[in-house]
Amino acid sequence: MKLLAIESSCDETAAAIVEDGRHVLSSVIYSQVEEHRQYGGVVPEIASRRHTEQIIAVTQKALDDAGQTLQSVDGIAVTYAPGLIGAVLVGVNFAKGLALSTGKPLIPVHHIRGHIAANYLAHPDLEPPFLCLVVSGGHSHLIEVLDYTKFRIIGRTRDDAAGEAFDKAARAMGFPYPGGVFLDQAAQKGDPSAYALPRPRVEGSPYDFSFSGLKTAVVNLLHNAAQKGETVRVDDLAASFQHAVVEILSSRFLAAAEEFGYQKLVIAGGVSANSGLRGTLEAACKKRGYALYQPPLPLCGDNAAMIGAQGYYEFLAGHTAGLDLNGVASLPIDA
Ligand code: KG4
Ligand code: ZN
Repeated sequence: MKLLAIESSCDETAAAIVEDGRHVLSSVIYSQVEEHRQYGGVVPEIASRRHTEQIIAVTQKALDDAGQTLQSVDGIAVTYAPGLIGAVLVGVNFAKGLALSTGKPLIPVHHIRGHIAANYLAHPDLEPPFLCLVVSGGHSHLIEVLDYTKFRIIGRTRDDAAGEAFDKAARAMGFPYPGGVFLDQAAQKGDPSAYALPRPRVEGSPYDFSFSGLKTAVVNLLHNAAQKGETVRVDDLAASFQHAVVEILSSRFLAAAEEFGYQKLVIAGGVSANSGLRGTLEAACKKRGYALYQPPLPLCGDNAAMIGAQGYYEFLAGHTAGLDLNGVASLPIDA
């Protein structure tokens, strides 16, 4: 079954053709990141406008690259939640138009389910159940993936998402938006034990995360140094910050794996590209004899191939939508 998949929930306009949830026939991403960079973050109104301008060309290219047409695909999968609502609606309405004009099934896909499904594209042997750490710009969750469309959240962030914390700390350190990847590069040159930073815990909730105190500690450290005229070694601060985030994420992830009896661990979302997180989990899983699955770097960030992968399993589960499908800004993965 070949699906045309569409993703427009943030600042990437993307379309892909995916076969049977596992094979990417084409994947096209138009990134708006350069334009948003000058504002230090995504401007929702600009994102919606660019999606509107780009979505036809991006979709046509995805069809062309795969040697397909609107008539030859078997369904239209689209991200309908969560995300910037104006941005999500561009993809949803476009997909509804295609479904109406072709008579093909319309398959709504939850964006975070899509991030998890990116792993199905890279790892043919990966099947649920498994434990997944989803870390993106908007979400940080520890999730039991019980089946392809059945999820149970066992931990979440109480404040900033991991990617958000990376981006805010990176901004304070002077890196351009989105700073996560720049901070990661700097961290690889720095000393992770140079600066003492907190590892905030959430009282009574062993699998929840909290990053705002860590981010504030970085901001305060930079302010104090500036006031005293001291120089901060940015590479060392980046390494210390990354080390703290990775320790928070990996310690909760591994503890949950032990308590809930998972030996199959999966990471997903933009922050799963982080070199520190990947390295730490690789070593820890090897030591414990766990199987660790990570998306290849091009599938960590937002793309439509992952929506096509999850869309296939949503279709198999009977999850299709009518033309009354609406976009939703905020929706739990287990809804
Ligand atoms: O999944 P994603 O593309 O978008 C959302 O659904 O939110 O995640 C984007 C986030 C950004 O915060 C970005 O800074 C972060 O992923 N990110 C990284 C790295 N690459 C991307 N964070 C840390 N290290 C990286 N190498
Ligand atoms: Zn995303």
